[in-house]
Amino acid sequence: MEIIIFDTQQELDIYAADLLISVVNEKPDAVLGLATGSTPIGIYDKIVEKFNEKKVSFKEATTFNLDEYVGIGPENDQSYAYYMNKHLFSHIDIPAAQTYLPNGMAANMEEESARYDAMIQAKPIDIQLLGLGHNGHIGFNEPDDNLTGGTHSVKLKEETRLANARFFASMEEVPGYAITMGVGSILKSNTIILAVRGADKAEIVKEALTGPITTSVPASLLQTHARVIVLLDREAGRLLG
Ligand code: F6R
Repeated sequence: MEIIIFDTQQELDIYAADLLISVVNEKPDAVLGLATGSTPIGIYDKIVEKFNEKKVSFKEATTFNLDEYVGIGPENDQSYAYYMNKHLFSHIDIPAAQTYLPNGMAANMEEESARYDAMIQAKPIDIQLLGLGHNGHIGFNEPDDNLTGGTHSVKLKEETRLANARFFASMEEVPGYAITMGVGSILKSNTIILAVRGADKAEIVKEALTGPITTSVPASLLQTHARVIVLLDREAGRLLG
């Protein structure tokens, strides 16, 4: 694991954006795995800036998002599909047909999960961007005795619903279920970027990166992957020796 600690959020954002852009510039039909949440917003802003400066084109690229809420459609401004359009897709030249998210409105989640996994298998992810939940989740793979390898629907932990409530008008509106790539799918990515910021994540960063590999901290499984680049701001990295 390569761990890089940045003095400022801005530097982290630029570094992560440049990493993703360099993959696309080397391989124009690259497959990017993308995340939502608050952490990637600054990274997407920097990608859009570089796109506007004509430093990169996404015409041939494909993207797979990690997850989506169950029961809200892409027109709902809390859906991850909406978020991706708002923060990235509508500002760059990627054809909409090359951007994939799990369909949270699918009638049958098992079929949707199998369909999503088959698409990822056909187009393996070159580089996957991840954020980190306070409980160690990646995607919506919540701490558990067992983790599911492939894409699956998941009941969100109360702490995750609470953490995400800030994006919703009320706690009642926060969906109870999501559909997420599994840890197995994530670990199949060629390269993984884990981007984490903020003092409130310092403890879970330490646990995930230096603690035992355990399904009760799903991000600790990243320790088993050969090419993980961890990008931290000073606060998130403050407990690492
Ligand atoms: C989002 C996702 C989540 C977030 C995590 C951190 O697609 O998969 O695992 O990365 O909850 O969220 P933020 O960045 O909002 O702290």
